[in-house]
Amino acid sequence: MIPGDFIPKPTKKKLFILGFLGIGSLAGATLAVGLVVLVISAWLGLPLNVFGFNEGPTQPIAFPHTTHVQDIGLDCTFCHRNVTEGQAASIPAVGLCMTCHTTIGHDKPEVEKLLSFHKAGRPIDWVRVHRVPDHVRFVHEPHIRHFSEKNNVNPSGTCQLCHGDVGSMTKVSQVKPLKMGDCIDCHRDNDAPSDCSTCHY
Ligand code: HEC
Ligand code: HEC
Ligand code: HEC
Ligand code: HEC
Ligand code: HEC
Repeated sequence: MIPGDFIPKPTKKKLFILGFLGIGSLAGATLAVGLVVLVISAWLGLPLNVFGFNEGPTQPIAFPHTTHVQDIGLDCTFCHRNVTEGQAASIPAVGLCMTCHTTIGHDKPEVEKLLSFHKAGRPIDWVRVHRVPDHVRFVHEPHIRHFSEKNNVNPSGTCQLCHGDVGSMTKVSQVKPLKMGDCIDCHRDNDAPSDCSTCHY
């Protein structure tokens, strides 16, 4: 005789309740995990990147860093020309894009948009992703110089310290908080000046 035969078969009602409990606890567990992730990321001060909430603003043209950095292998400094010289990294003007796009990619809708900006002689109003408040002074040049010497990389190899792996982003988003504490921690670690007037006007 099979021992199982002694166990009474569950009624339909019991099955229904068990199934309901199963789904309920699964949903509960998912919610709990979600909450824990939220609390931890808030606690670490990280911008919440988990469900794509922090995917960065939509730009007037969907400009993919992936295509230009990973596929064609352009240096960051090819486009962000001021980054090794001054305060702002600078975003390239339409004219620089046109060195390639007078001929390349005309079958792509996003390149068509670029062509219409060029034809109209209009600049593209890119939406800023990273911005420190007005009372803060940030200068790219000393950072690029310091870390390309220290880590023995070319200038474009320093950007990821603060911006993450932009070359793999189809849409740029901020991945580091870049709050005062982050600035000061790194300044202390590198014997860089950290009195208030270094960073505040
Ligand atoms: C072909 C030109 C080009 C190259 C090469 C390029 N970028 Fe950009 N980058 C742009 C344009 C255009 C924008 C503005 C649109 C956007 O945010 O996607 C931009 C935006 C950015 C931003 C956001 C700026 C803000 O508003 O805060 C960062 C950071 C950045 N680039 C870093 C990099 C890094 C790092 C590299 C190299 C790995 C790189 N870029 C290579 C053209 C380029
Ligand atoms: C050194 C050459 C070069 C420069 C400079 C350049 N691009 Fe491109 N871009 C390319 C190539 C190559 C492609 C891929 C075209 C294809 O797949 O047909 C491309 C693709 C694109 C696409 C289409 C992506 C897609 O798949 O939909 C957009 C949009 C674009 N570029 C915008 C820009 C903008 C804006 C600038 C200036 C900030 C710029 N490009 C500067 C070479 C360049
Ligand atoms: C030490 C941290 C740090 C490093 C390293 C760094 N950035 Fe930045 N970047 C910032 C901060 C902070 C801002 C916001 C500055 C502001 O609001 O004035 C910024 C802003 C930008 C912007 C948008 C505004 C602008 O300046 O034009 C671009 C583009 C950019 N960075 C590109 C780069 C590139 C390319 C590199 C590498 C060559 C790089 N950054 C290296 C911290 C850094
Ligand atoms: C990854 C490390 C790192 C981070 C993050 C960082 N810095 Fe720096 N910063 C340095 C180093 C190193 C120097 C000194 C460079 C040199 O001149 O050799 C420096 C220099 C500076 C200077 C120039 C000081 C002077 O007068 O010579 C300013 C201004 C500055 N940082 C502001 C900031 C601000 C604001 C932030 C945050 C938004 C920031 N830094 C984030 C490492 C960092
Ligand atoms: C290495 C750069 C750096 C240094 C040094 C620095 N700060 Fe800041 N500070 C920042 C940045 C970046 C912000 C804006 C981001 C933030 O609010 O954390 C900021 C924000 C602030 C704010 C505004 C906070 C708020 O909630 O709006 C005050 C006040 C301030 N700093 C005071 C100081 C004082 C006082 C000192 C000297 C003891 C100092 N900071 C040194 C980078 C710096």
